[in-house]
Amino acid sequence: MQASAKAHSNMALIKYWGKRDETLMLPHNSSFSVTLDALYTTTTVAFDAALDHDILILNGREAEEKARLKVSRFLDIVREMAGMNIHAKVTSQNSFPTGAGLASSASGFAALACAASKAAGLELDGKALSMLARRGSGSACRSIYGGFVEWQKGVKLDGSDSYAKPVAPPEHWPLSLLIATVSDKQKKISSREGMAKTVATSPFYNSWLNTIEEDLAQAKAAVQNRDLDTLGKVAERNALRMHATMLSADPPFLYWQKGTIAVIREVESLRESGIPAYFTIDAGANVAVLCEPSHAAQIKEKLLRLREVQHVIVSGPGPGVTLL
Ligand code: DP6
Repeated sequence: MQASAKAHSNMALIKYWGKRDETLMLPHNSSFSVTLDALYTTTTVAFDAALDHDILILNGREAEEKARLKVSRFLDIVREMAGMNIHAKVTSQNSFPTGAGLASSASGFAALACAASKAAGLELDGKALSMLARRGSGSACRSIYGGFVEWQKGVKLDGSDSYAKPVAPPEHWPLSLLIATVSDKQKKISSREGMAKTVATSPFYNSWLNTIEEDLAQAKAAVQNRDLDTLGKVAERNALRMHATMLSADPPFLYWQKGTIAVIREVESLRESGIPAYFTIDAGANVAVLCEPSHAAQIKEKLLRLREVQHVIVSGPGPGVTLL
């Protein structure tokens, strides 16, 4: 009754922002991401009849109660699917430093979905695994697959048509993503809370939804054609529009720090000097820069010269979840 799995994080190029069902974790909009080879989580789940509650060890330490409860609620879904009632010890390790402001919920819940379902004796295919991972964290449903991945929002109330599908494998296009961390402060508003506030109060939210299908089609075509210029422009536009919905919420909120703007300006100046580079920003202060692998080292050096930039992690497209 034990299994281990490894799942990689992903960076959304067309962002998921807003839920139509907060229990089933169903999104208002489809999204599109690239799975990252440099950032991953390895998780072992051991169901043990001797335990009277679930245990979570995160990066070598007992996790705080909030994280443990999130994992425990997720394990309840697995237990219900498997028709069993045994608690588990979950041991999870991230490849990246904690507190560097890098999100781990996508890789974390993708690895947990894979390891927990296997340990519970379930044999789930990619679609079922993606739907299960989604229940832990929406973006985790995309980390089931490697390379370029689309999460189709679906329209059904029960969520049976809301899961990720691979669009192109990692080897299709060895694009580089440079993740520049500019703040190690815990963000005050989680993605979950931020998107809920936005859906409830932003007068721009419907306008955001109206832009998605066109951006998604352009982004997917750009990946098929390995067209960095088109992909980069769509990704920037989409990220800025998502952040505009937060600026227009009531009360408004902004995840950016000084360093966020510094990286945006650096990307603009790189482009002016003839180096194709484009940015995207999740619900946080850190910035991911897209470029061709041949420019990655040079851009990394430029970013590290900015006073506000702490680390730059260089990643390419990575693989989907695997059992270990
Ligand atoms: C801005 O997947 O972390 O990174 O579903 O509530 O767990 P929950 O939220 P989460 O939100 C990710 C938001 C985003 C965009 C994206 O990854 O698509």
